[in-house]
Amino acid sequence: MSKSQRKSKFLRTISFMFQLAIKRMQKINVDSIPNGSVIDIGGGGEGIIGQIGKERVTAIDKFQREIDEAKHKAPEATWVLADARKLEYSDEHFDNATAFFSIMYMSNEDKKKVFKEVYRIISKEGEFWIWDTPITKDEGVFLIKMKVIFPNRTTVRTGYGVSSKIQNVDVTRELLEDVGFRVEIVDSKNKWYFIKAKK
Ligand SMILES: C[S@@+](CC[C@H](N)C(=O)[O-])C[C@H]1O[C@@H](n2cnc3c(N)ncnc32)[C@H](O)[C@@H]1O
Repeated sequence: MSKSQRKSKFLRTISFMFQLAIKRMQKINVDSIPNGSVIDIGGGGEGIIGQIGKERVTAIDKFQREIDEAKHKAPEATWVLADARKLEYSDEHFDNATAFFSIMYMSNEDKKKVFKEVYRIISKEGEFWIWDTPITKDEGVFLIKMKVIFPNRTTVRTGYGVSSKIQNVDVTRELLEDVGFRVEIVDSKNKWYFIKAKK
């Protein structure tokens, strides 16, 4: 089988698995996002944080196609192509930071690099809010489907899929603490969690 045939078979399999995945839709209430200027890590795709925070949000993503997909949904936000493991912003450039179902796309090693950068570029009293999901298997494709409820009660239905890797809220917490964050809130549901960490 040629490389392109293998690639297309892989994509068909993923799409098939998406269709088959009859998983319960998670209801995620995003009642608020942090105040002031916010850098949203991995903000492309649906652009949830950009849609809520609009001009207060700088959404960065390492893939232009993810930015292009999200840009028109949150045109008031600032969209930047960048890798969050190494950011060009000066120390304490932003008030606060968010990551909405984006650290699930990173290895633990990369998470730590990203957390270190976030720590550096947010203000002295800055907060880092993370919404993410535990993954208990390290094979196949992990999928999470959700209905996101915005502060104004409008909703968006979306889903995120990634090749499986074991990760959980305790590891995220440890990695945050390793780089200096103080974890203030951990709200752990069955399929997803929310963490509020403070510098
Ligand atoms: C599925 S999206 C997350 C959902 C998105 N926050 C939303 O509101 O829909 C995950 C994003 O994280 C991005 N990402 C993963 N690792 C990254 C990194 N090191 N730097 C920047 N973006 C990254 C991916 O490109 C992808 O667009």
